[in-house]
Parts: sequence; structure tokens; C-alpha cells
Amino acid sequence: MLFLLLPLLGVLFPGGDSDVGFEDPVSFHLLQTSTFNNHSWVHQGSGWFGELQTHSWNRSSGTIIFLYPWSRGNISNKELMDLERLVQLYFNEHQDFYISQLMFKGPFDLQVAADCERHSGKGFLGFVQVAIQGHDFISFQNETWSPYPMGGRKAQKACNLINLNQVYTNRKHWLLSYACPRLISELLDGGKAHLQRQVKPEAWLSSGPSPGPGRLLLVCHVSGFYPKPVWVMWMRGEQEQLGTQRGDILPNADGTWHLQATLDVAAGEAAGLACRVKHSSLGGQDLVLYWAPQSALGWILFAVIVALALLTVLYIHLSCSSLLPNGLPFF
Ligand SMILES: *[C@@H]1O[C@H](CO)[C@@H](O)[C@H](O)[C@H]1NC(C)=O
Ligand SMILES: *[C@@H]1O[C@H](CO)[C@@H](O)[C@H](O)[C@H]1NC(C)=O
Ligand SMILES: *[C@@H]1O[C@H](CO)[C@@H](O)[C@H](O)[C@H]1NC(C)=O
Ligand SMILES: *[C@@H]1O[C@H](CO)[C@@H](O)[C@H](O)[C@H]1NC(C)=O
Repeated sequence: MLFLLLPLLGVLFPGGDSDVGFEDPVSFHLLQTSTFNNHSWVHQGSGWFGELQTHSWNRSSGTIIFLYPWSRGNISNKELMDLERLVQLYFNEHQDFYISQLMFKGPFDLQVAADCERHSGKGFLGFVQVAIQGHDFISFQNETWSPYPMGGRKAQKACNLINLNQVYTNRKHWLLSYACPRLISELLDGGKAHLQRQVKPEAWLSSGPSPGPGRLLLVCHVSGFYPKPVWVMWMRGEQEQLGTQRGDILPNADGTWHLQATLDVAAGEAAGLACRVKHSSLGGQDLVLYWAPQSALGWILFAVIVALALLTVLYIHLSCSSLLPNGLPFF
């Protein structure tokens, strides 16, 4: 069993630095989507701590929404107001930049991803990527904006213009190399209990659409677990079934995760197969679910229900006849 556990521990606790359980690098992303249509802009913004959304932008009030109490970090009210004003200013400036200076004609959409990452031992890395209509346009790293080849002459022009705008570039640099690292430290600190929580998976089996005549698709559903790393395998005894197809790990609405692992087998070979789940919340007690052939299970359930129905009828019959005086008609 140990040989199975060791690589698993490596997956669950990579890096092994002081923030046990946090993947390396620890990252914060700001995502912005802006659409320009019929002479007006709509801006949407969100903040993500790793894969967890922690912030969003309220368009009507121009304020930051904190999705968890700890999303606020240690920011003071004054700092928060300054930051919100900066975001508004940024939206206004870049509207003007794309329309008046780069002469984009609507409608179009713009995506901006600003990332900062904390690498253990290597400090922070920050970069910004901008895409227009889903195509890479320009990027920012090491205090310099560079065009993507796909962006063509407009991207080149954009970089020439913003690299000259020292105020704007300094602000981006400040955001990536001061504000973002500080936020990461505060989120790690304040969100520790939430981020290091352990939620056990639930698992159940079903059969999928038949892959062909005489074949079965066994589906093992695993849901509701946190954190994300998980190990799921169809097994026969201690033998891993290499045909196991593991789906992507997808988010549930409550911040936990789910996935499916399927196995295509000949109908006669399904008996004795089991789905095995390993997860850090299970403390080494793997979940193991054995495949019970659906049709046999159906017949067993049917038989049990019929037997119960018969027993009930018999019971009612017996209790009625014992309550009624012998020989008297019912009415
Ligand atoms: C475009 O905006 C104008 C003024 O805001 C409005 O009257 C018009 O109905 C809009 N057109 C469309 C297609 O949304
Ligand atoms: C956004 O701001 C508006 C106006 O202040 C407010 O009514 C609304 O509740 C806010 N939405 C959220 C999700 O906080
Ligand atoms: C930025 O600088 C780092 C090291 O200082 C270097 O590894 C990296 O290639 C640079 N990136 C760009 C886009 O110049
Ligand atoms: C945030 O504030 C709390 C309480 O004032 C403090 O204990 C904590 O160290 C601060 N965190 C950071 C990362 O500065």
C-alpha cells in the first residue's frame, strides 16, 4: 500500500514548503472582459486565487465585491477607495485608448488577464496578456509591453504608445510587483482555514450508454471533494484497470469538485470490478464501490418489494381477522 501512497502524497502536497497543501506557484489572477457594442462599453472583472474566485466587480456601483470575508485581506477603507478609483480610471483610459488612439471600430471584445505568481524560492513573477476577439494581442512583463505577432501593426502601435506612457506602465508594475504579492500573502493568511479544509468525496456508480453490443460502460461518479487532487481507478482486486478513462475535474457550485471515471468492459466481465477513490480527506481509508450488475440488482429490488407487499397484505389480513369477532359479517 505504501508504494501507492508515496506518489499520491507527492501529488497532494507538492513543493512541501511552509504552506503545506498549497500548490506551487501560488497565484492570483485578475480577469477583465470588456465588450464594445453600439458606442457603449460593458466591463466585467473577477479575481481568482488559484482556481477559486475570490473577487468580482460591481458594474453598477463601481466597487469590488468580496466573495469571502477573507478576500478583503488587510486592506484599509482608504486603500480600498483608492483602488476602486484606480480601477474606474483604468477602464476609462483604456476605452479611450482602443477607440481614439488605436481606432478600433466596434463591435469587439477585449480580454485582459493579469497574473502574479509566487514561486517558492524564486520570488514573484507578474505578467499581463491582452487578447482581442480571442486572439493574442499584446503582453506585459519585466516593465515592458510587447506585441504578439498575430496582433499585427495595431499591436506594434499599441506597445509603442503605452511603453511611452510611464505613468500607466509604473502603475501596472506597482500592481504586479507590490499590490498582488501583498494580496497573495494576506489571502494565504486569512483564507487558510477555507483553503486547507478537507471535504470528503461521495461516490456512486452507474452505467453509461453502451459502447457496443455485449459491452458495458461502467461510470464511477466522485463528487463534493476538496482540495482538488484526487485518485480514481477501476480495479479488479489489487489490479488497476488500465482502460480507466478519467474525465476532467470540474467545479461544483459550492467550491468543491467532481469527476467521472469510466471503464468499457465486456458485459460478462463487469462482476468483481470496483471503483477505488483516494483523497487526502479520507485519511488513507479509500472509498471502494463494487459493481453490482444493474439487471440483477433490479430483480433483487423487485423481489424484495414483492415480498414486502405480500407480507403487508398478510399482516393486514391477520390483524383484521383477529380484531373482528369470529363469524360476524364485515358490516
Ligand atoms: C444603440 O444605442 C442607441 C442610443 O443609446 C439606442 O437608441 C439604440 O436602440 C441602440 N441600438 C441597438 C441595436 O441596441
Ligand atoms: C452592486 O451595486 C448596486 C448599487 O450600489 C447594489 O444595489 C447591488 O446590490 C450590488 N451588487 C452586489 C452583488 O453586491
Ligand atoms: C523577464 O526577466 C526574466 C528574468 O529577469 C527572464 O527570465 C524573462 O525571460 C524575461 N521575460 C521577458 C518577456 O523579457
Ligand atoms: C493581517 O492583519 C492581521 C491582524 O491585524 C495580522 O495578524 C496579519 O499578520 C496580517 N497579515 C498580513 C499578511 O500582513
